[in-house]
Amino acid sequence: MKVLMVCLGNICRSPLAEGILRKKLAEEKIDSLVDSAGLTNYHKGAQPDHRSIAIARKNGIDITSQRARPFDTADLVKFDYIFAMDASNFENLLEYASNAEEENKIFMLLNFAGMGERRSVPDPYYGKLNDFENVYELLDKACTLVAQKLKVQSSQLDLV
Ligand code: 4NP
Repeated sequence: MKVLMVCLGNICRSPLAEGILRKKLAEEKIDSLVDSAGLTNYHKGAQPDHRSIAIARKNGIDITSQRARPFDTADLVKFDYIFAMDASNFENLLEYASNAEEENKIFMLLNFAGMGERRSVPDPYYGKLNDFENVYELLDKACTLVAQKLKVQSSQLDLV
């Protein structure tokens, strides 16, 4: 199971989503690869935003070894699930898809988690620490639900 988290800069939301989901899938013993990418290359090679690092650390997750990278169309082949943080990320990703199989891998994260249709994880970049706490809570809830869903799917795959 290969999962890619995508946001705009790959320094605030998607690195947190990557760290949280990786931990939950490991806890569920689901064989998986979790990565993240951004739809811009502004922060290529950068560590996650210090506020994302801090909120992750507060919750026992170390994301300091992550480095931002731009989304690549090869990701549409490599990954099984591509989760967009917001509606704009989602629309951008769909434009990169070159066939229905690729399109069908792209979801809004909160939609896939059953937390709301076209509901976005708000961009906290220009916000305060409190906005990062809200993002963390949202992502933690979403990743719990996503991990449950992927667990069911991986157990079904084992039966094939
Ligand atoms: P992210 O947040 O998409 O959650 O990583 C942002 C980070 C940087 C910028 C925008 C959003 N930026 O414009 O540089």
